[in-house]
Amino acid sequence: MRLVRTIAELRAAREELAGEVGLVPTMGAFHGGHLALFEAARAENDAVAVSLFVNPAQFDDASDLAAYPRDEARDLRIAEQSGVELVFAPGPDELYPPGFQTWVEVEEAARGLEGDARPGHFRGVATVCLKLFNLVRPERAYFGQKDAQQTAVVRRLVRDLDVPVQIRVVPTVRDADGLALSSRNGRLSPQERASALGLPAALHRGAVEYRQGGDPVAAARGALNGLEVDYVSLLELDHALVLAAAARVGSTRLIDNVLLKGELT
Ligand code: PAJ
Repeated sequence: MRLVRTIAELRAAREELAGEVGLVPTMGAFHGGHLALFEAARAENDAVAVSLFVNPAQFDDASDLAAYPRDEARDLRIAEQSGVELVFAPGPDELYPPGFQTWVEVEEAARGLEGDARPGHFRGVATVCLKLFNLVRPERAYFGQKDAQQTAVVRRLVRDLDVPVQIRVVPTVRDADGLALSSRNGRLSPQERASALGLPAALHRGAVEYRQGGDPVAAARGALNGLEVDYVSLLELDHALVLAAAARVGSTRLIDNVLLKGELT
């Protein structure tokens, strides 16, 4: 596995990768969700490239950015064990050098849900993803259903700006108790973790209601009592309808969603 930190090194290492390349953009703190993306990329490509960059541009809250879990040595070991060929782990100045002033603003897809809750978030996501696509030039890039609106934003960006990459979406990986894996789960106390299970349970309740012809949003909302709800909302994607929610458990904000109709691929 090759580790590169600068754009110049990345360009040189990219030239040496033979065949089709699958890119997995990440912010590190790897868990089973990231591993599922690595595996999906491994299965369809000749080489897997991973970016490991806690993107300051997508955090609207400085304390959230400061608290973001980082353990690069562990992440590199996991990437190596997963058969990743190339890791790009730049510092912030490498991707946002002094004078940086060009941003990608996806409009409708970035409104509502996470876009409203975290102003500027998707501008940061879209900008860093476009930069990564330009730098790595992968055949395919892999994203998790866990961040469903993010997949819609990235798909829109790729279409609108004619980026020659196929976007793949991998189903959400959960713990045995149903909680979606997230780098933020590590911040939950045992009691908070128990309350957090109310989020997937409420979404499940909403999905059952939807299948019975009822209102999934109202059903999920009703089942979420006890959690501080940010939103419960339907999200229409290209070929899928998703029920998405965000809730706070103590000081930790969690998001999750379930597929109601269609598929995310
Ligand atoms: P990060 O939170 O590190 O997530 C990297 C990828 O892993 C995303 O596509 C996310 O949807 C996926 N992922 C996270 N938890 C998952 C789970 N439980 N099951 C399946 N996939 C999961 O998302 C980002 O980073 C950033 O916004 C990024 C795209 C890297 C841009 O900075």
